[in-house]
Amino acid sequence: MTRGRFIVFEGGEGTGKSTQAALLAQRLGATLTHEPGGTELGAHLREVLLSERTRRLDDRAEALLMAADRAQHVAEVIEPALRSGRHVVCDRYIGSSVAYQGYGRLLDPDMVRAISGWAAGGLWPDLTILLTVPEEVARARIGPARDRIEAAGDDFHRRVLDGFLEQAAEEPDTWVVLDGSGTPEEVAEEVADVVADALGLEVGGA
Ligand code: TYD
Repeated sequence: MTRGRFIVFEGGEGTGKSTQAALLAQRLGATLTHEPGGTELGAHLREVLLSERTRRLDDRAEALLMAADRAQHVAEVIEPALRSGRHVVCDRYIGSSVAYQGYGRLLDPDMVRAISGWAAGGLWPDLTILLTVPEEVARARIGPARDRIEAAGDDFHRRVLDGFLEQAAEEPDTWVVLDGSGTPEEVAEEVADVVADALGLEVGGA
């Protein structure tokens, strides 16, 4: 049984990554999943992590809960699918923890990466697609903040974007940056080209 390939979408809110993850999964016949909250335990953790009621969540506690969510998700969903030969498309993964908790919350990004890597049992994506859009496009798409992390402020979100771009620059073999400002169909075509080029996978029609 050939192992499936693991493709991750990263980016800030309003970049269209959830739409693109869903479109790609459909075209590849892949398992579609997301973080935080891709398992039953994860749904509980997601509630704690994003609820406006969790005002006093310590930054390190936030990082560890994201890692706990990931550990369960890899063990229960991602790894079994890959092992059974299915491709997996995941909306956010370790790159989000490095960007949000490492750069955004000003924790040590290398430490966050190490903790997440350990939580994930050393499973790294075959390909990460980072979608970016100009700040004003993202703002127009998302409207008012919908959760605790979205409400963290413009400086926080600028650091997050820097964190994503630095990761992409550091790992050019596995990260690709795409402009997400086009229509969903236009961006999906670019995504399909990137996946075909990088992984040699045949991406079916939309
Ligand atoms: P998500 O469900 O992808 O929401 P959105 O559609 O707004 O992108 O993610 C929820 C929030 O969790 C988002 O603000 C990013 C944040 N997050 C982290 O801070 N660290 C992480 O490791 C992950 C996976 C997400």
